[in-house]
Amino acid sequence: MNMNKVKILPPEIVAKIAAGEVVERPASVLKELVENSIDAHATSIEVTLKGAGKTLIQIKDNGTGIGKDDLAALFNRHATSKISTLDNLYEIMSLGFRGEALYSIGAISDITLRGKTKEQEHGWELHLRGNERLSQKPFPMATGTEIEVRELFFNTPARRKFLKSNSSEFNAMLDSVIPYTLLYPRIRFLLTHDEKKIIDLPETAHQLERIGNALHLEPRHMIEEKRGFEGMSVHLVLGDINIQRSRRDMQFIFVNNRPVQNKSISFHLNDMYRRLLSPGVHPFFCVFITIAASEVDVNVHPTKREVKIKNESQITLTLRHFSEELIMAKSKAKQFKKSIFSIPEQEQAPAPEGYSFQTENFAALKASLIHAQPAFSAGETGLSFESQPLSFKNENSLKEKLTQSHYIGNLMSKYLLFETNDSLLVVDQHAAHERINFERLKAQVEKGRIEIQRLLTPVLVKLSHQEIEGWEENKEVIEKMGFDCSLFDKETLAIHAHPRLISQPEKSIQNLLAGDSLDKLDMQTLARLACKSSVTSRYALKKEEAEYHRKQLLLCESPFTCPHGRPTVIEISDDTLEKEFLRK
Ligand SMILES: Nc1ncnc2c1ncn2[C@@H]1O[C@H](COP(=O)(O)OP(=O)(O)OP(=O)(O)O)[C@@H](O)[C@H]1O
Ligand SMILES: [Mg+2]
Repeated sequence: MNMNKVKILPPEIVAKIAAGEVVERPASVLKELVENSIDAHATSIEVTLKGAGKTLIQIKDNGTGIGKDDLAALFNRHATSKISTLDNLYEIMSLGFRGEALYSIGAISDITLRGKTKEQEHGWELHLRGNERLSQKPFPMATGTEIEVRELFFNTPARRKFLKSNSSEFNAMLDSVIPYTLLYPRIRFLLTHDEKKIIDLPETAHQLERIGNALHLEPRHMIEEKRGFEGMSVHLVLGDINIQRSRRDMQFIFVNNRPVQNKSISFHLNDMYRRLLSPGVHPFFCVFITIAASEVDVNVHPTKREVKIKNESQITLTLRHFSEELIMAKSKAKQFKKSIFSIPEQEQAPAPEGYSFQTENFAALKASLIHAQPAFSAGETGLSFESQPLSFKNENSLKEKLTQSHYIGNLMSKYLLFETNDSLLVVDQHAAHERINFERLKAQVEKGRIEIQRLLTPVLVKLSHQEIEGWEENKEVIEKMGFDCSLFDKETLAIHAHPRLISQPEKSIQNLLAGDSLDKLDMQTLARLACKSSVTSRYALKKEEAEYHRKQLLLCESPFTCPHGRPTVIEISDDTLEKEFLRK
């Protein structure tokens, strides 16, 4: 009997394991190939995809090219032209450094590689399948590199099975390319998918222009500044409050020209914006950090996504202060888009103080922002009470109380106040409105009889590449929900009609397009998405309207939570008040 349990794995299996770490999905292949073209100083990168990269990923660049002899050497693990000693690992300024990517991709696909350096008269083509060389022959071409990856994961069926739908794989591919387009405005990027041109970005010297073009955002809604700090320089491009995303899909962090993820930086920037944007909407930002290469360790993750920064907490804090100062000092007044229906314009409440940023005075602005915080914040007022989750019994007694209560007024155009015998009921007008609309929309959708509001002039919504793709894919479901939309141009959707119950159709559409395929969702979830933040939040209701809201809310199946789980009504009992005033 053979007692040796430890075996050395054969090289083919080692290759597949390594490939599994670097190449998770088509998006990771594309990312590696784009990085290689950038490292080769290309000024033009053309990507052609078929079947979300499952069928074909092709890239053509006009960089330095790969010489005939190097072509063959490439498909050995750790073949790289970029570093040669270990010390270099910490001085890495190129995107690639491991000599692992092409080897890994080659192990699990059918790959054709063509390269020509400027010294060579013609190019060479190498064809491999599962890292087995099938042919090498001369090929006429201009200086540069062309790579075609077909049949990804053909020899690792388990991986192939785990690939998601074409739309989510394709979205991931876009997500992996877009950061590089922001980083390198001087490189021309072209990307087509199934014969459709998706990205077409001409070379430009202006980074803001590129960012605007690539993300379909208006440069006038961006604030930019560069500043040097001890041992670091930072370039910030921050969206002002006009850019509001329903997902965190437009937040980019770069360290030494490398797109990275960093939880701490991301947390602080989002946290800072929380004082400016309503809950549930997310800002746009790009942070470009340059620090000494010795201060970063890029070799911590197989796909190089995460970067460890030695002095992370200090750097994060510096960044937070810098961005706070920038956004407060330069942000422009929020341009409230008037809602097209439901509340007549003249009745709309003015924007609350603290939302208008005309002043240049940072300190005054900060102070006004603090006052714009919710009134019952425990820390500020010393008042603390708990709104307990509702049990069935409580729900019935609350229903009773709300039915019999008297309306006593509204607070800050946000809350409706009702008095009962022994308590104060505070209704969150926005949450209540969402609940009412959600239940009505759900009922209409289920019956297939949605009340439609036709628009005289369409509402135009700028969408990202991913959202446009999402719309194409989910058109039918969206139409079923009562929307009538068409593509206005390649980045703008025109809404011609929408469900009457929704007052902000553009938000609705963005919420619907924020996730994966809609056809997997039930009607209730769809209605919930469509309703989210789609009612006007601040508006001083008249007494009759407040009473009407109360009645409608009481008719709901679940009157005391909004469709997204927040309470619609809280009760502050006499008891709580007595305690707070130290009467008890
Ligand atoms: N588009 C290209 N143009 C010119 N040379 C290329 C190109 N793509 C790859 N190469 C050459 O092939 C080598 C191997 O590429 P590969 O991506 O496998 O490794 P790497 O970029 O050095 O490191 P990493 O694994 O971290 O990406 C590179 O070092 C480079 O010399
Ligand atoms: Mg590489």
